[in-house]
Amino acid sequence: MRVHDTVSGDLAADHEEPKVTGSTVDVVILGGGSGGYAAALRAAELGLQVVLVERDKLGGTCLHRGCIPTKALLHAAEVVDTVKESKAFGVEATFVGIDVPAVNAYRDKVVERLYKGLQGLIKSRKIEIVAGEGRLTAPDTVTVDGREIKARNVVLATGSRPKSLPGLEIDGKLVVSSDEALKMDRVPASVVILGAGAIGCEFASVWRSFGADVTIVEALPHLVPLEEESSSKLLEKAFRKRGIAFELGARFSGVKATDSGVTVSLESGKTIDAELLLVAVGRSPVSEGLGYEEAGVKVDRGYVVVDEYCRTGVPNVYAVGDLIPTLQLAHVGFAEGILVAEQIAGLDPAPIDYDGVPRVTYSEPEVASVGLTSTAAKDRGHDVVTLTYDLAGNGKSQILQTAGAVTLVAQKDGPVLGVHMVGSRVGELIAEAQLITNWEALPSEVAQLIHPHPTMSEAIGEAHLALAGKPLHSHS
Ligand code: NAI
Repeated sequence: MRVHDTVSGDLAADHEEPKVTGSTVDVVILGGGSGGYAAALRAAELGLQVVLVERDKLGGTCLHRGCIPTKALLHAAEVVDTVKESKAFGVEATFVGIDVPAVNAYRDKVVERLYKGLQGLIKSRKIEIVAGEGRLTAPDTVTVDGREIKARNVVLATGSRPKSLPGLEIDGKLVVSSDEALKMDRVPASVVILGAGAIGCEFASVWRSFGADVTIVEALPHLVPLEEESSSKLLEKAFRKRGIAFELGARFSGVKATDSGVTVSLESGKTIDAELLLVAVGRSPVSEGLGYEEAGVKVDRGYVVVDEYCRTGVPNVYAVGDLIPTLQLAHVGFAEGILVAEQIAGLDPAPIDYDGVPRVTYSEPEVASVGLTSTAAKDRGHDVVTLTYDLAGNGKSQILQTAGAVTLVAQKDGPVLGVHMVGSRVGELIAEAQLITNWEALPSEVAQLIHPHPTMSEAIGEAHLALAGKPLHSHS
């Protein structure tokens, strides 16, 4: 039996002759993105025989079209900002321009190293990769190019793809998704971005730093509308200051090609001209034509329906990652993959607490949160108190010249339920906030912990000191 010739790059070349010979394996996983490969790594670690089917490249959206390459672009954008704003720090530097091919080469180098590392990990755990398009042809069978792989357990992990609006065609040139936006060999002079979620705000941030005129169009009343409202407002203030335009509560009505790009129309009658339109209105699960429903797996609006253990209801068939209707985040995919692998291996893992998952939008400034918003906390019947600590009182934030805040949502006389932050680099602080909310810490308990000075993490300490009734660098 041979690895299929359709495999791209080093994947085929690097692999030894596969082991599967028609016998039933412990686990077959359909899709090698964050959810699928995490399931594979953990299952193999637990001694199971694993086959991983992938039609493109191991690593999926996160590694090749999502988290990693976009954060590389965001870092290049930060370097641009540092150079452009150097005078504010007393440093003379001249910004000459963006060498887009060189930025892309840096981005690709980061991706390539991680891709090699991942291939090495998969190989060292003796996971068999089958390259090609797989289909669920029976509850215990995945078929790849006519070849049947039978398994005692099946994990569906086919991920998601950019979605659009009805009647809005992504042509890849004038109207693009994040897939094409990431691969561009130039900085557009002007862009309209449809959708102010993580993708919209991150691309707005990169392109603005690179010099483009950016307008975001968002149907809901705020940027990053799922975040605590005060965080959205702080991001709006920062984006306004950066010269990023946005239309909030604005519904898209159409786009027309022009000599110089596109004209985007809103339902209000307003039109915006730009070189291109980026559609960032969410991602759709990839489940069509893969045999899921025929095998008895329930699918709802494209998402595979699962219980809290990622079980589909068909015995021994699980689904993880962007394919299921949980948060579409790589770290959630990892956790779901691990959860499934441990069940298959006979362990007794606890279900995932999705409220406890940290969320970060890596724009400049960053927006990070974990736990409940004040609205969600009230909806769940908590008697809610909130406290906002302004980064103006934080030494390191002043050194970096960043503005923002830490907002705590807590139960009155009870634990911290949510932490919401805006500011440069706050994504790096969310892990501490995650411990606080997941361990249901009281503000007074966190106030006992001494934070290192001068760091941005002090802002978390100061916020809890204030909520515990003993503010230090803030007014009571
Ligand atoms: P999203 O669902 O987060 O945001 C889409 C936005 O588009 C929403 O705010 C929605 O109100 C708006 N929208 C929808 N229809 C509209 C219309 N007709 N007119 C104007 N606005 C409209 O989706 P996004 O940003 O595309 O991201 C997709 C997924 O990928 C999300 O689950 C996101 O969390 C994830 N992701 C996470 C990242 C991170 O964690 N840093 C980075 C990139 C993506």
